Amino acid sequence: MGKSSKDKRDAYYRLAKEQGWRARSAFKLLQLDEEFDLFSGVTRVVDLCAAPGSWSQVLSRVLIKNETFGRTAWQNQEALFRQQMLGVAGQTGAEKTEETKETPAAPRSSGDVKIVAIDLQPISPLPGIVTLRADITHPATVPLLLKALDPEYDAATASQNASNPVDLVLSDGAPDVTGLHDLDMYVQSQLLFAALNLALCVLKPGGKFVAKIFRGRNVDLLFAQLKLFFTRVVVAKPRSSRASSVEAFIVCLDFRPPAEFHASLERPLGVGDMAGLAPEGAAVALDEKVAVKAEDNIVEVALEDLRPSDTTTTGSRWIAPFVACGDLSAFDSDASYKLPDDYISLDPVQPPTAPPYKRALEMRKAAGGAYGKTTV
Ligand SMILES: C[S@@+](CC[C@H](N)C(=O)[O-])C[C@H]1O[C@@H](n2cnc3c(N)ncnc32)[C@H](O)[C@@H]1O
Repeated sequence: MGKSSKDKRDAYYRLAKEQGWRARSAFKLLQLDEEFDLFSGVTRVVDLCAAPGSWSQVLSRVLIKNETFGRTAWQNQEALFRQQMLGVAGQTGAEKTEETKETPAAPRSSGDVKIVAIDLQPISPLPGIVTLRADITHPATVPLLLKALDPEYDAATASQNASNPVDLVLSDGAPDVTGLHDLDMYVQSQLLFAALNLALCVLKPGGKFVAKIFRGRNVDLLFAQLKLFFTRVVVAKPRSSRASSVEAFIVCLDFRPPAEFHASLERPLGVGDMAGLAPEGAAVALDEKVAVKAEDNIVEVALEDLRPSDTTTTGSRWIAPFVACGDLSAFDSDASYKLPDDYISLDPVQPPTAPPYKRALEMRKAAGGAYGKTTV
């Protein structure tokens, strides 16, 4: 598929190039933020699986450069415009009504902002972002991350928990898809658990965790597990994520781990590892409530006993709410849009620095050229 054909068929791919984002994924994070106000009160963030870096770009522009996007940008613009109009009309301070006192949202102080981005692939530098090249599934990555968050951190003496914990952990991790559905789902779930285990080590109480998921069979189990640690767990589908894709994002708000829980990467959390995490006074011991059907690996958890105030519990299963987010006027990521005849297709903002196909490109170049023109 040519560049301009992709521009027609993928509005967010085109917009990303026009607006300077390294990947179309930036819009997913912006639309998630619009729905859940993810960046409010946030100064310390970890961006897992971050290459080529469009989510980190969003973090850098919102938290460090104090830029606003989407609805907030529009509201600020409106407020400014109203103020300017009233200034022109010559209103005095005493005459100002409540409405006219409206001011654009105050910029955050960017001085304390700390953002760490991690990926297997190199990430080109971004203002204010510490980038690490590491595997999030490897235990050695945690001390690296803790050191990046806090230069005083000493792995020999310190625990695996952050001394200056973070407010928000993001993970947009996706494996190289093989096309073998079950294998892809499995690898994706391993990435998700790795991200969750890292998040449990670094999040502060009240913190937020947002991660990409592939919606598949038994994904309810994962949601139920997350509900043990967070007061609110929602499955969100931004408008910029194709409806035809199994991708969605799990948004976990208000980190409240059970009192008995101690994050440890030597004993990371995985499927069925929840025994002993029920809050004190739970009517029934958690291990009695976890029924594992070994033959098809289904685990059912009765969460009404864990969080008695939860109203979304039905029967013995907890159903995570599903929210579609992004403005209704936003582009439909599954639609094709006609472009003007004189439209000039732009190059991507950040071509991959070390793509898996790099070697193939080098070999093709060495052999003399593009497909079909190779000279032997
Ligand atoms: C969809 S991309 C992320 C896009 C990114 N959020 C952005 O906005 O530019 C998925 C990334 O997951 C990374 N990844 C996959 N497995 C990983 C692992 N085990 N550790 C670290 N990164 C991983 C890949 O290298 C890839 O860059």
